[in-house]
Amino acid sequence: MSEKALSGAGLRGQVAGKTALSTVGKSGSGLTYRGYDIKDLAQHCEFEEVAYLIFYGELPTSDQLAEYKALLKGMRGLPQELKEVLERIPADAHPMDVMRTGCSMLGNLEGEESFAQQLEKANRLLAAFPSIICYWYRFTHDNLRIETDTDDDSIGGHFLHMLRGEKPNALHEQAMNVSLILYAEHEFNASTFTARVCASTLSDLFSCITGAIGTLRGPLHGGANEAAMEMIERFANPDEAEKELLGMLERKEKIMGFGHAIYRESDPRNEIIKAWSEKLSEDVGDKVLYPVSVRCEEVMWREKKLFCNADFFHASAYHFMGIPTKLFTPIFVMSRVTGWAAHVFEQRADNRIIRPSAEYVGVEPRKVPPIAERG
Ligand code: COA
Repeated sequence: MSEKALSGAGLRGQVAGKTALSTVGKSGSGLTYRGYDIKDLAQHCEFEEVAYLIFYGELPTSDQLAEYKALLKGMRGLPQELKEVLERIPADAHPMDVMRTGCSMLGNLEGEESFAQQLEKANRLLAAFPSIICYWYRFTHDNLRIETDTDDDSIGGHFLHMLRGEKPNALHEQAMNVSLILYAEHEFNASTFTARVCASTLSDLFSCITGAIGTLRGPLHGGANEAAMEMIERFANPDEAEKELLGMLERKEKIMGFGHAIYRESDPRNEIIKAWSEKLSEDVGDKVLYPVSVRCEEVMWREKKLFCNADFFHASAYHFMGIPTKLFTPIFVMSRVTGWAAHVFEQRADNRIIRPSAEYVGVEPRKVPPIAERG
């Protein structure tokens, strides 16, 4: 192991607070939300049920779920001022920048005036993020001002409908549903920790979420699904993928979509999204991307004992659904806003400002010399 890994750099292995929201790398298949295993949730739940679980602490009854979905549906519309801002963001902007600005602008228009509004504001963001990204995307790419107040039953369906201008089929809606469940919550990852640090200053929810979006944007975090897609689409077949990957490893390049800061042997989300990627690849008659992805997985394990994280097979799964690569990470936001907001609530409920210390490694104390004597 490298010196860096041994030194505990990146706060690795340090307990930085308490949470009742999820466990990562501990029990069950390795990921639980409020005690439920991720496999169980992905198999039996709708994303809105999981969002409810994360926000309110328990799974909803069918009446509560219907009521919750109706509440979210009623919050999909965007204020005119926000639409105008979105229209002014260039088509070649990064969609994560659009999410960050959209969130921040909504905070200007509908800010959190007191913490008593935190759940209402979190639900508003959950309902509005798909509208924000699709409104901008369709305006700047298709010259269309779309209606974001759709009657789609699910958040995933709402997103695909706005993106394509027609309702998705059941297979795609289900795949989106599972994807959103897998990305919803993940303990003290970098973006969630950002949200908690911001919350610990008693800042507002929109600031916490805006900061978290900026953190998720990086390729070592949520941006890995886009980076993985850019890599796999360069390979014409599995043999070429193997040859190129070996070269990348030789050059000590990072392979996006592999490895994890906490999991050591596998990421429990991978098995689930991989099965969906396979299903979607059969649906579109793909003969390249899925076999290429499988070969990458084999080579990385054989050569480096590195496994696919949640992002790797998400890349091909989204691609098979016709989702443009640059929208991959915004989908992560549409889901993870649940985890981020719930962590903000937790931080607020038992708060102390987060302020660690640094080990000083600079020069010894010294006097300021007169300016004429410097240089
Ligand atoms: N490709 C190539 N090498 C990798 C790698 C990858 N994807 N992930 C880890 N490694 C290497 C590291 O460089 C390190 O080598 P070293 O000891 O010689 O420095 C070794 O494997 C162990 O790394 P580890 O301590 O397990 O990783 P980390 O905790 O520092 O970083 C990630 C975790 C996720 C940031 C890292 O695995 C990574 O950059 N992955 C690619 C980006 C990605 O997919 N991010 C999404 C995460 S869900």
